Parts: sequence; C-alpha cells; structure tokens
Amino acid sequence: MYSYANPTLPSNPRRRGVHLTPLGLKKLRNAIDELEFEENYGEKYTLKDLSYRVKLDAVTVSKVLEARLGVDKRTLERCFRSLNLELDSSDYTKPLLKDERSQIPVAAVAPYAHPQQDLREGVEVSVFYGRTHELAELEQWVVGDAPEQRLCQRRRLVAVVGMGGVGKTALVAKLVEQVSSQFEIVIWKSLRNAPPLKDLLTAGVQFLSAQPEMQLSDSIGIGISQLRAYLSQHRCLLVLDNAESIMQGGVLAGNYREGYEDYGELLHQVAETRHQSCVILTSREQPKVVQRFAGAIAPVQTLHLQGLSEAAARELMQARGVVSGSDSDWQVVIGHYCGNPLALQIVASAIQAYLHGDLREFVRHLQQGQFRFRDICTLLEQQFERLTQLEQQVMTWLAIHREWASVQELQDQIVPAVALWELLEVLDSLQQRSLIHKRDCQFTLKPVVMEYVTGSLIERVCQEIATGASHLCKNTGDSNVVCGVQRTD
Ligand SMILES: Nc1ncnc2c1ncn2[C@@H]1O[C@H](COP(=O)(O)OP(=O)(O)OP(=O)(O)O)[C@@H](O)[C@H]1O
Ligand SMILES: [Mg+2]
Repeated sequence: MYSYANPTLPSNPRRRGVHLTPLGLKKLRNAIDELEFEENYGEKYTLKDLSYRVKLDAVTVSKVLEARLGVDKRTLERCFRSLNLELDSSDYTKPLLKDERSQIPVAAVAPYAHPQQDLREGVEVSVFYGRTHELAELEQWVVGDAPEQRLCQRRRLVAVVGMGGVGKTALVAKLVEQVSSQFEIVIWKSLRNAPPLKDLLTAGVQFLSAQPEMQLSDSIGIGISQLRAYLSQHRCLLVLDNAESIMQGGVLAGNYREGYEDYGELLHQVAETRHQSCVILTSREQPKVVQRFAGAIAPVQTLHLQGLSEAAARELMQARGVVSGSDSDWQVVIGHYCGNPLALQIVASAIQAYLHGDLREFVRHLQQGQFRFRDICTLLEQQFERLTQLEQQVMTWLAIHREWASVQELQDQIVPAVALWELLEVLDSLQQRSLIHKRDCQFTLKPVVMEYVTGSLIERVCQEIATGASHLCKNTGDSNVVCGVQRTD
C-alpha cells in the first residue's frame, strides 16, 4: 500500500540514533494520510513528494518511515514539525538489536504498515459470471475513477439492494477481491444473526486497534465515534452483509427492528461525516437512511441489483448441465426467473437431474405451470412474510390482474378502499424490496414472484373451500379472488 520502502537500506541495522515507535509511526502516517486526503485527492504521495513536503532527503524519509534504522532525533523533530506534529518521548526509541527484535509481541508492530483484512465472515466466489457493468459501477463509487475526480466521486455509503438470491453477496465479494489492494483495512461482517450494534462496534474497534481484548464503553455514541475515528484516519472498507436482518418485518420497508435503531445512527454518521472510508451494505430492502441521502452526487449510492444478463445466466445453467434449447427457450426460462442466479441454479439442477438437461422439455412443463420449486418458494415466502397486510393485498391483486396495472386500477380494485397516499407508500415500499416492476407509472409483479403469489393464493383458496372457512374471501373482496384465480389458472 505504501510505496515508501527503500530497497537499498541495509538489512542488519546497528543501534545508532533513534527510530519511531509504533505509536509515533502511526501518528506520522495518520498525518500523511490526512495530508494526502486534503491536498492530494486521496492519492498516495511518492517518496519524492514526501521528501519535498518534509524538507528531508528521500533516503532519510524512507528510514523514518521504515521505523527500524536509527536516525538523528532532530531529523524526527523536523519531520514531525513540518506536518504540524509534536514529537513526544513515547514517539521514538533506540533501535533494537536483531535478537531483541524477535521478542516484540506481534500486536506492538505498527498496525497499518501493510493492508489488513478480516474476511472471516465473508464468502469466497470461485465461479462468477457476468456483472462487468455492475462491478465497474461499484468500483467507481467505492474507489473513484480519474485521480482528480476521486474525492467527489467516492461514496461513503453504498447499498446493494435486491431480491433474495439475486447475487448481492457474490457481487460484493467479487468487488472486494478487485479493490481490496486500494484499502488499508478491509472488514466483512455478516448481520445475518442480527448482532447488536455494540458487538459489531467492539469487534470492529478491536480489529482496527489491533487490541483483541479491548472493551468499548457502554455508550453506543462513544463506540460509534471510535469507529468513525478509524474510518477517517485510515482508508477502510467495511462490508455489512445481510442488512435486512436488522430491519423490521410487518412494517413498510427500511425500518429498523426494535433494539437495532442505533444502526441507523451509525449509518447516518457514516453518510454524513467526512472520512476517507467506505461502508457497503447488502440488503433485501433499502434502509431508510440510504433512501434519505441518495442522489446523483450524494455520498450515498444504491445499486438496485437485477438478475444476470442472458449470456451470464446461460453460462451458469450450462455449467450445471443444461444443454439443449433454442434461443427462445433460454429467454423464457431466464425471463421467468428474472435472471436470479440462485433460482437458476435450482432450476438447472432439476433440469439436469430429471429432464436429462433438456431445456425445451422444461419450458413445456413451465408453460403448463407444472414446475414449482420448494427452495424458490421458501425464499419468496421469507420475503412475503415480512410485508404489511396492505403490501400483501397489493401483491395478491397484482397476481390476479397479471397485466401491468395503473395506480388508479389498483385503487379501484382493492377492498376495503385505500387512500391514494397509502397506496403510493405501499408501492414505493414494494419497490424498495425489489418485488415489483414499475414502467410508465404502471406496476406488475416479477414473473417468478407472480408464480409464487398465485400458487400460494390457490393453495389458500383450496384450503378455505375444503374447510368451509371464508377468511381469505372476507379479507380480499370475496368472489373476485376466486374468479380471478379461475380465470388465470
Ligand atoms: N454472477 C454470478 N455468477 C455465478 N454465480 C452467482 C453469481 N451471483 C450469484 N451467484 C450464486 O447465486 C447464489 C445466490 O447468490 P447470493 O448469495 O450472492 O445472493 P444474495 O442476493 O446475497 O441473496 P440473499 O438475499 O439471500 O443474501 C449463490 O450460490 C451465488 O454463488
Ligand atoms: Mg446475501
């Protein structure tokens, strides 16, 4: 990361002069980072630039930054002064001899002399198709493009939002592979088990400070400030995967679960305050703070992730044994599952296992509605169960309607009547959850979602007919539901 090392320096130093301690080196590097951020568009200074800035020759600057070889104490003072720092006695020490050096505990070594990564909760992507455009766009937001535009292009908070299984985690993992060398620290945290913010902050600060025993104060505000200090002093990339786990189900999209509201404060501060790091979220629904800050030049940006391109989806299915099929067969299947890689993996495995890889045969069954995959239903069920009652009602009506529907049509059909503002709120929330398509102020369900909603509607109607109950009919406007289902299925 730093390119200041001088390969011509001797490897066996003698005890002469003083050199920086880890603390002193950190102070110096922080000051250089800040300077690079303030005055060099966040670009690293070369040794020559630094030598000019601190008014010392390049070899001496290199020695100072290596923090191994002794230099004159006055050199350190001069170097510090030129960066508006004061040299304290804890900032420097005498060089150790070789056998003394081997006894230093690892944690005492300057924390960020080399890039550090904590990817234990991340995923490995061995097979990855397509997404060239999405990766380029994300890279531009996270790293910037041309050096002179970096500061204004870089985003502090990036959300990758999309349906379950659409490939958010895989995409961000690929991005991290591509850009990690441009960060001092990369941390990946999964929120799948909804860790309280205090646990997340403690783990983060322990890693960043290289002090695994460190405890945070009970005040979440102080913990957030500590994390923020690292984000501004160092160029960190922090990935928070599965952020929907800290969102509340049963209310409109983007609200935090009870007891998790402080995540909103953290994200707010990441978005609002000045620092040189980037936090990437993946989520099935867009958090409120991201909605609020989003804009063309804002420090916050959302990628609404859609399915794979047709070419990438074909590659994925072919690798899983799907062999024959015309162009139109491919389009039908990929379109039906919206290019969702998880759904396509499930479908491809079934085609390979039960239909000898014959896509044409599968399309025939699909068009007769004879295939329904439990794993895909489970995935959609998880998302459906998080919806409000009105959201579920709108989804049900869109499934019955099957065509694109205008807001007016929806309002006319929903029973009991719903206010326009309420309906618009619900449609917005369903878009935040990536469950509906919008085109020219009209709405429809994604085909695979349509299939799921229709299927569960039929199941519920059949059950209610069998048991003589009429709960569904009462809730959704009685005979229209049954007529609609009969008409379409
Ligand atoms: N571009 C891709 N090429 C190949 N496989 C992919 C690609 N994108 C995703 N996958 C695969 O699809 C599956 C689902 O992807 P992933 O877990 O990233 O989805 P997700 O959007 O994060 O889902 P969730 O909302 O459940 O977290 C995984 O098995 C992943 O490896
Ligand atoms: Mg994921």
